[in-house]
Amino acid sequence: MSGSKTRPSDAHLKELGLGRWRHRDSNGTDGAGNEAEEMNDPTAEVAGNVEEEKSKTTTLTLDAEGRHLRQWRIVRKEVSECVLCDLHRTRKNTVFGVGAENADLMLIGEAPGADEDAQGEPFVGRAGKLLDSMLAAIGLSREQVFIANILKCRPPNNENPTLEQAEKCRPYLDRQIDLIRPRAILALGAVAAHNLLDVETPIGRLRGTVHEMSGSGIPVIPTYHPAYLLRRPQGKAQAFEDLLLLCDVLQDLGSQPVAPTEKSESSA
Ligand code: URA
Repeated sequence: MSGSKTRPSDAHLKELGLGRWRHRDSNGTDGAGNEAEEMNDPTAEVAGNVEEEKSKTTTLTLDAEGRHLRQWRIVRKEVSECVLCDLHRTRKNTVFGVGAENADLMLIGEAPGADEDAQGEPFVGRAGKLLDSMLAAIGLSREQVFIANILKCRPPNNENPTLEQAEKCRPYLDRQIDLIRPRAILALGAVAAHNLLDVETPIGRLRGTVHEMSGSGIPVIPTYHPAYLLRRPQGKAQAFEDLLLLCDVLQDLGSQPVAPTEKSESSA
């Protein structure tokens, strides 16, 4: 391996949506002994220019890809080492978020609870199981979306996030949103909705309509928090209406259609 450059395979590039990789050696040939053919071929110059442009695009796209991955690595590391508020003293784990880093849909909750703190993953307790069913009801799995919280660390006794904690933690969430660029955000519960929309309107009045996140303009659909729905299952019908509204928004924005079925409707 030493001295040789690794090159992406054609299959890998195709996966990235890039053109076919063509290696050129220092003489400008394609490395497969086609130099003479290229020199006699009147289309060779044009083809060569196109090839050069393609290779520039490839380099640029791979650079952008690399920058994106680097930004994710940096924000992950910063979160894992964060000591900006007192919650770092009591946490077992930071809870960065989980899911597809290019998801069309982002789900944002309040803060990790005991199970999430223990496992370092959002929504893994009872509320998380209900959230999985809610997602399944609209044909999605947690791998297809990105799930995060307003806070990355568990507040002791599951207290509501303080203003200071939310402010200190917010830049991490904003960077995640910038990197993911979701088409829509589902705000789970009052704390998430209030922080994202910068309002204090009760969740019962916020839900049922589409709002815009201040600054980014990303559509935000507020709904009840799954933990609230566990305590008050009567709210599930309204939460399902919110999910249907979310489906409409995603479809209008050209995201993959998600078609709820009668069966999944009753399982949420
Ligand atoms: N409740 C939340 O808001 N977030 C979690 O990750 C778990 C429970």
